[in-house]
Amino acid sequence: MSLPIVACVLLLTVLASSQFVNGCYTSIFAFGDSIIDTGNYISLISKGLLQYDEIPNCSTPPYGETFFHHPTGRCSDGRLIIDFIAEHYGLPLLPPYSGGGNANPGGGVNFAVIGAPALTDDVLQADWSYSRDNISMMSQINMFKSLLPSICKTSSCDEIFDKSLIIFGSFGSNDYAPTMLSKRVEDAYRLQPLIVNAIGSAIEELIKLGVVNIMVPGMLPVGCLAGCLAVYYGSNEEDYDLSTGCLTWLNEFGQKHNRLLQKELTRIQEHYPNVFITYADYYNARLELFLSPEKYGFNNETGVIACCGSGGPYNAEGDTKCGYPSSHACNDPSSYIEWDGAHLTQAANRWIARGLLSGLYTSPNITASCSTSTSAMWI
Ligand SMILES: *[C@@H]1O[C@H](CO)[C@@H](O)[C@H](O)[C@H]1NC(C)=O
Ligand SMILES: *[C@@H]1O[C@H](CO)[C@@H](O)[C@H](O)[C@H]1NC(C)=O
Ligand SMILES: *[C@@H]1O[C@H](CO)[C@@H](O)[C@H](O)[C@H]1NC(C)=O
Ligand SMILES: *[C@@H]1O[C@H](CO)[C@@H](O)[C@H](O)[C@H]1NC(C)=O
Repeated sequence: MSLPIVACVLLLTVLASSQFVNGCYTSIFAFGDSIIDTGNYISLISKGLLQYDEIPNCSTPPYGETFFHHPTGRCSDGRLIIDFIAEHYGLPLLPPYSGGGNANPGGGVNFAVIGAPALTDDVLQADWSYSRDNISMMSQINMFKSLLPSICKTSSCDEIFDKSLIIFGSFGSNDYAPTMLSKRVEDAYRLQPLIVNAIGSAIEELIKLGVVNIMVPGMLPVGCLAGCLAVYYGSNEEDYDLSTGCLTWLNEFGQKHNRLLQKELTRIQEHYPNVFITYADYYNARLELFLSPEKYGFNNETGVIACCGSGGPYNAEGDTKCGYPSSHACNDPSSYIEWDGAHLTQAANRWIARGLLSGLYTSPNITASCSTSTSAMWI
């Protein structure tokens, strides 16, 4: 055998045995809100670049207790879905751009910030206590643009992005939250097309900058969030899904958003056939946990009850007060699905990440993007 063939056979064997661990993506770039922020908010606040607001800042114990043993700014007791995705591909946990991520951006950066909206203040006209334009979706994209020269310093952007996974979102929850929490559901529905169009435009902008592998998460079943259930506590019995304890109409709101989003993704995919766009079905992954908690090792009686909070029927009274002096956390977060009334425990995040990476909750199957980049090496 000549040398190149041996090398090829060796490489093929490595690819086959490790499948998509390593060799698939060499970096991840992430955008979004508290579901995926790995430390930007905490860092921006401590540098005085962002005002502290009523929203949970995820910066005090017991946040982080299970895995990091101290708060990292992640809104969970441990790792997030994105951390498990990074681990799966053999990559380091994604650094936040504001907390060192801009030092070596070629290795991947997280631009997501807790509380980030998809729309800007002038469009949203929400009654925030401070402007969120600096952390909005657009602002995160601008941050990415400004880092492009350093991201593409060692190789061309084409080469870098061929081996990069972009995780875009989810976005929208923080745009809907003010209307939802003040029970103006009609207003929230009116925002849906605006938000989905904004997300679509942002994705197209990223594609024009050269990214090729994009995963776009949908909205979670908001009607199962302890924080939302607490706000709408005492609704009519027929408003609840008896098998899960979730609010049906609120879940339908999330499903509508997701249908619009998937339609937009299909449109973009048709327009850019050389790009791989996969929809991450957070909604059904998470719903499956609520439907069969025992099957996946979770407590069957605490499904929609938060592990960490300050009491009430869902342990999510008065917004989500985990980390405040009045709050308390459960003894075994690994048996809970919900961590703080708005976010999931590490155990639930791990389960969802596995579901996404196996292809069960990504459409098309995320592993297909890997085989695309792999086969591109042989062309
Ligand atoms: C937004 O960022 C700019 C540039 O860093 C800064 O000058 C401005 O004060 C920030 N605005 C807010 C409301 O934080
Ligand atoms: C939860 O599981 C326990 C033990 O398997 C069982 O006795 C109980 O009825 C279940 N509760 C619900 C709400 O399904
Ligand atoms: C986060 O919130 C807690 C509880 O309100 C507060 O004590 C702490 O100072 C906040 N942290 C930051 C960095 O603002
Ligand atoms: C996704 O693709 C991988 C690799 O081809 C395959 O092993 C897996 O079974 C697929 N998942 C689903 C749910 O079809």
